[in-house]
Amino acid sequence: MIKIRNLTKYYKNIHALKGICLHVPEGELFAYLGPNGAGKTTTIRILTGLTQLSSGDAWLNGFHIHQHTLDAKRQCGLVPQSVNLDQELTVYENLDVHGRLFHMPSEKRKEKIHELLTYIDMEDRKDTPARQLSGGMKRRVMIARSLVHSPKVLFLDEPTVGLDAGIRRRIWALIKKIQQNGTTIFLTTHYIEEAEFLADRVAFLDEGKIVANDTPQKLMARLGEWAIDRIADNEMNTVYFETREAAGTYSPEQHESFTLRRVNLEDAFLSLTGKKVSGKAPGQKEKS
Ligand SMILES: Nc1ncnc2c1ncn2[C@@H]1O[C@H](COP(=O)(O)OP(=O)(O)O)[C@@H](O)[C@H]1O
Ligand SMILES: [Mg+2]
Repeated sequence: MIKIRNLTKYYKNIHALKGICLHVPEGELFAYLGPNGAGKTTTIRILTGLTQLSSGDAWLNGFHIHQHTLDAKRQCGLVPQSVNLDQELTVYENLDVHGRLFHMPSEKRKEKIHELLTYIDMEDRKDTPARQLSGGMKRRVMIARSLVHSPKVLFLDEPTVGLDAGIRRRIWALIKKIQQNGTTIFLTTHYIEEAEFLADRVAFLDEGKIVANDTPQKLMARLGEWAIDRIADNEMNTVYFETREAAGTYSPEQHESFTLRRVNLEDAFLSLTGKKVSGKAPGQKEKS
């Protein structure tokens, strides 16, 4: 369970978080979605004790992150945004070092690491140095490492960034499996389909503020079910329809090309912020 109340963060004069309030119940897979620079990593770094908040409060399973720092830290596992395995150590050793940091007894460590290597389907790689692994394998090892001490809450910061589509799906399956085993998951991403596919609930973060927090279905239903992307005079815009029949009555202008598709979470984000989660909105100038 994660509870956040009025969380703010300043980095000198940069106001990175502007009063975040959130409640993620036990067992939920929660996606924190927003463009680069929105404040996703900052939120995770505060919750996992890697940086200080400027004001506000947060609890992990009831433990206040400042008043009960150690208890709060024991509740959570973290898979950071960039790969931080010890490249010279083997897969097994990377996991073992983590277990030692949490003062796990040797037998328990061994047992847990073997269980996790089977879980991520990498038993045969246990003696491979991390530097020899592919990008997708490194991510899987990082996920396994975050689970060695059996955390109740798992923070995944852009766990599939830079991976190709097939490998990304494999990671998605692993994340689902972790949730099914009872772990609460806080996932950040700027991949819309990742949030749509995985999340029970999504919060949209934009410039340090939450602009919406709901199930993917409800966020999309605000616009309707169908969308037509129209391109005319080199400008693209989108119109939304409640039903496919309604979309069918759309009559394009001359010289216009258009495509019909289902509404997605990107549309919901765009309609609330005027921005795409990844990249700029059609017709929108890049911010300087
Ligand atoms: N260590 C830091 N020092 C100064 N500014 C930072 C630092 N980390 C992040 N920021 C700034 O805080 C804002 C939020 O960053 P971040 O949390 O990394 O966003 P996201 O993970 O959503 O891309 C950005 O404007 C970023 O430049
Ligand atoms: Mg980030």
